[in-house]
Amino acid sequence: MPAAVEFEPHRRLWLLTGPSTSYAVRLAADDGVRHVHWGEPVTLDQAAELADRDERTPHPAASSFEHGVGPEELPVEGGPRFGPAALRVRFADGTRAVEWRHTGARVEAESLRIDLADRHYPLAVALHYRLAGDVLERWTEVTNHGTTPIAVLRCDSAAWTVPAGPRHRLSHLVGAWSSEFRLQRADLPTAETVLTSRRGVTSHHANPWLAIDDGTAGEEHGEVFSAALAWSGSWRITVHRDPSGRAGFTGGFGHEGLSWTLAPGETLETPVFAGLHTRSGFGGASRSWHRYVRDEILPETRETRPVLYNSWEATGFDVDEAGQLALAARAAGLGAELFVMDDGWFGARTSERAGLGDWTPNPHRFPRGLAPLAAEVRRLGMRFGLWLEPEMVNPDSDLYRTHPDWVLHMPHRRRTEMRHQLVLNLGRPDVAAWTHQWLDALVGDLGLDFLKWDANRPFTEAGWPGHPDPDRVHLAHTRAVYQIMDRLRADHPGLRIESCAGGGGRADLGILRRTDQVWPSDNTDAVDRIAIQHGFGQLFPARVMGAWVTDSPNVTTGRVIPLRFRFHVAMAGVLGLGGNLTAWTTEELKEAAGLVAAYKVVRPVVQHGTAYRVSGGGTLTGVHYVLGADQVILAWCPSRPYGHTPGPLRLTAVDPQGVYRDLDTGATHSGAALLTSGLPLDLPAGDHASVLVRLTRIDDSE
Ligand code: GLA
Repeated sequence: MPAAVEFEPHRRLWLLTGPSTSYAVRLAADDGVRHVHWGEPVTLDQAAELADRDERTPHPAASSFEHGVGPEELPVEGGPRFGPAALRVRFADGTRAVEWRHTGARVEAESLRIDLADRHYPLAVALHYRLAGDVLERWTEVTNHGTTPIAVLRCDSAAWTVPAGPRHRLSHLVGAWSSEFRLQRADLPTAETVLTSRRGVTSHHANPWLAIDDGTAGEEHGEVFSAALAWSGSWRITVHRDPSGRAGFTGGFGHEGLSWTLAPGETLETPVFAGLHTRSGFGGASRSWHRYVRDEILPETRETRPVLYNSWEATGFDVDEAGQLALAARAAGLGAELFVMDDGWFGARTSERAGLGDWTPNPHRFPRGLAPLAAEVRRLGMRFGLWLEPEMVNPDSDLYRTHPDWVLHMPHRRRTEMRHQLVLNLGRPDVAAWTHQWLDALVGDLGLDFLKWDANRPFTEAGWPGHPDPDRVHLAHTRAVYQIMDRLRADHPGLRIESCAGGGGRADLGILRRTDQVWPSDNTDAVDRIAIQHGFGQLFPARVMGAWVTDSPNVTTGRVIPLRFRFHVAMAGVLGLGGNLTAWTTEELKEAAGLVAAYKVVRPVVQHGTAYRVSGGGTLTGVHYVLGADQVILAWCPSRPYGHTPGPLRLTAVDPQGVYRDLDTGATHSGAALLTSGLPLDLPAGDHASVLVRLTRIDDSE
């Protein structure tokens, strides 16, 4: 069923309906936009009934201390409102309260725009809704139609309301460098809970994604509401639950304390805050997100990501032509399709102390430039890519010596260095133009196929001296990154981009509109990676999840892990190789080549299929990918406490009437058996046991 928007004029009620979700809002008597429904598909009559109930139920009780507004789509300040405001402004005379007047609405096929204006001041707001399947995209525009500036103290993309109830549970992602995307799931306190990044990038520490359920949802059952913000700079989401059990959240760009001056005639447009509802549990929510990312967000929706090789863990900063050629030869021999030279190839970049900003090949390391390396990589049958960190500069660089004013800074304040680097202010048109110009020339000259776009520190002293509205830098910098990427892609159609910020510091729906994959973490330890991938996969599909097989012991954790296990974990995403292949034994190279070949066989199912997370007893977990009749199961059992054999891996995505053949062993399984007693696994004994199983459905009742 295509998405539709309906309007009921008597109640001034709009209903948006997608394949399995409806969303309804209405204009209240005070012209504010009230939330009516988010959940099951309902008819317009049913939505009207819900709106009438909402109108009759006073919000809330009879006490002079309670508020009486009801759930709003974009709460402002003023009136009896005491929750977190989604829009906070201050007019030139000091007034902060807003009172609305409805000025119009526009319905198009799958989208709705509701226009409001302040009753006195020249402030206009447009609330936007667009259905993309069952994902509802929401964003806001605020416009100053007057002649004096208006201060915008907060401008969220959207406020969302979930059904009231005795209990709410919040799922969200936390982390740090090397331990990103750790899923947390705990009861929502009766309080305001803030998820935020004040770092100028999306951040390792919190990701702008969340899910809310009533405490009873599971992987494949239960009602789940989930939302994700499409923004790659600082952000803030405030989740709230009040003592009577009402709950919701509001979110958007910028962290608390920032403000923007809306000049006369100016419009500020927020990023999209997307939301979805499902009755199919956390797994169902993830699958809806995956579909949305693949079909609506990614620039190349149908493309299959290549197996890449990256030099970072092999060489660190010690790159040169001979060393890279040796790695490239081995990588090609293993079946890599894309070779990416990481940090250390430019300027005086022989360590993290110098050279960032001087984007010309180091003449000692690459006396002939990079063209011969690129040519040899291509002769070996691979595409060629480079690591870059375009937003950053080392103070010890020619760029900084020439343009010390190009970085984020504040007068009379020290410039805090992290990893010996500062952040360029890409909000400045001259800095953005320079950045685009050198990137465009580099990509064009070498015909680069791939950029690993890194950003290895957060913002500090994020000022913009001389600018009348210095907090603008938080919006302008991120938008400039977007614009540069968009332009590069438009001008170089073959170019693909990986989003990296010291690992998973910039993974969000905003960056994925212009990138093809994400580097989720600098932690490549396959055991740690299971948890990181579990969290990452709540929102993002395997198609965008870079995953390298690196050396053992692991450089970060020192853990020793068999090659097969390392491969099986990395095969759950976009397989890459990141080890020092020149030190791998002949046996290791042979085994690795076999595993790369095996990945290529299952890759269409992993990258384009539907993912179901499965688990067995003990530490056994896995992912089951389904594409048509083809099924791939990757399962990992990192340890066996007490030597116990893990419990069966019960599949959830098989038809009980179906018959499935194991393509490697020839064994057949009935769907009923796979659902009830599980998939028999031939797990090797001991720790770090893993399997790859390929099934195909062989009955023709499908
Ligand atoms: C960051 C990235 C790494 C690597 C280094 C290079 O830490 O996450 O993968 O590219 O920078 O300095």
